[in-house]
Amino acid sequence: MGAVDQSAAGDHLERTGDHLARYDAAVARDPGSASALVQEWMRTDWRALFAELREQRPIFVTPAFTVVTRYADVVEVLSREETFTVRAFGPRLDAALGGPFMLGRDATPMNWREKGLMQVMLAPQDVADLRGLVGRIADEALDAAARRGRIEAVGELFRHVALRVCGDYFGFPGPTPETLSRWTRAVVVDGFANFQGDPAVQAESVRAGEEMMGYLRGLLAERRAALAAGRGPLPDDVFTRLLHTALPAEVGVGDERLLINMAGLPLGSVESGPGAMVEAVEQIMLRPQVRAEAVEAAADPDPSRFDRYVWEALRFSPFFKLLPRLCERDYVLAAGTPRRTVIPAGTFVLAAPASAMFDPDVVEEPDDFRLDRPEHLRLYFGHGHHACLGVHPARAVICETVRRLLRRPGLHPLPPPDGVIVRAHGIFPDRYVLGLGPAGKGA
Ligand code: HEM
Repeated sequence: MGAVDQSAAGDHLERTGDHLARYDAAVARDPGSASALVQEWMRTDWRALFAELREQRPIFVTPAFTVVTRYADVVEVLSREETFTVRAFGPRLDAALGGPFMLGRDATPMNWREKGLMQVMLAPQDVADLRGLVGRIADEALDAAARRGRIEAVGELFRHVALRVCGDYFGFPGPTPETLSRWTRAVVVDGFANFQGDPAVQAESVRAGEEMMGYLRGLLAERRAALAAGRGPLPDDVFTRLLHTALPAEVGVGDERLLINMAGLPLGSVESGPGAMVEAVEQIMLRPQVRAEAVEAAADPDPSRFDRYVWEALRFSPFFKLLPRLCERDYVLAAGTPRRTVIPAGTFVLAAPASAMFDPDVVEEPDDFRLDRPEHLRLYFGHGHHACLGVHPARAVICETVRRLLRRPGLHPLPPPDGVIVRAHGIFPDRYVLGLGPAGKGA
């Protein structure tokens, strides 16, 4: 998962263009420092770096990792799960959850079986009701904030909605939203942002995972007891659906598997949902003309008119900018093209959706904000074997929350320091204050 520097967010036309020259000079001096330089650019100057790489070194081999920047090659990496695996995620997620989860395994019977099961549970036909639910939760939060003339959008709106969806739709409210929020942050930070393997961060994740699984075991027992005692009906949510699903024993989805998959729902949504909302809103706010049009579209009773603004905004800054993979065997990437590159076994590969969605081979005039981008080119939810399980609910939650926000009269960005997005670990948004009502109020 990649990080963002918002100082770079609005400068999509600016190209510094000398990253590779600086990199080559650094390699000649000290290869280790050169890789660190690239890591730093991927955090702070990713848009300009990727533009340069796409043109000059689309498969960029460094001593520490290889960055893949063109659309076709990113899709190829993400489509070859037996070669480019998520094995690196496995141990951290296993340690937290007490057993394997789909995002830490590739092409196993478990992946096939449990992703299929959970896709059935997260039924695409839930989306209309879910949008309604999200709209109500978002409007309540916005009503409360409007009186103050400003909103801290991450805590009061984006994360608040994501946590409420965990309770009301997934059936996993946690003992309190704050506790559920702490659990997801701890596990996700260790799984996807603890690059140095800090043992304190690992321990915090294991503790959070144990608490989360203990809570879920209790919830399962409570719901089973209620059913047995004829106290019903159970809440109409994903957890209840899972409980009512009787699978043959040989299929092997026992209680613990069911609970690990329940745990995966907030882990998949509470960080990435608000993350995507922050990116989308910021990209819209950076473009006054787009913002004016999006505000108008948000008023349309047909939400699909508005949603296109969110998707194009996310193309400019997807929450997952890089998807890491481990190359398990020597592999020829982009065979039959001038980009052909042998990737040796053991290489750490970073497939870059944030770059692929700017590839001029597939996206016309990529620097322009346009609403007619073909849907199949969107990579915000990954691609292939590990493509997002929650894509249907996630689309509804992101778009409807952002739509309700943009329907608020006088929504406006604020100058620093309030208007600056604060991120934990450079990735996970924690604070983004926006003005509501006439500019000047709440500023
Ligand atoms: C309802 C909310 C969500 C749930 C329940 C969810 C759950 C998941 C799960 C379980 C996976 C792993 C799938 C697998 O390994 O086969 C996954 C993958 C992924 N999700 Fe989501 N997710 C949600 C929202 C989001 C959002 C909002 C985003 C960002 C816009 C996102 C982006 C991704 C991406 C990029 C992957 C692929 C990761 C990779 O290939 O390494 N998800 N999601």
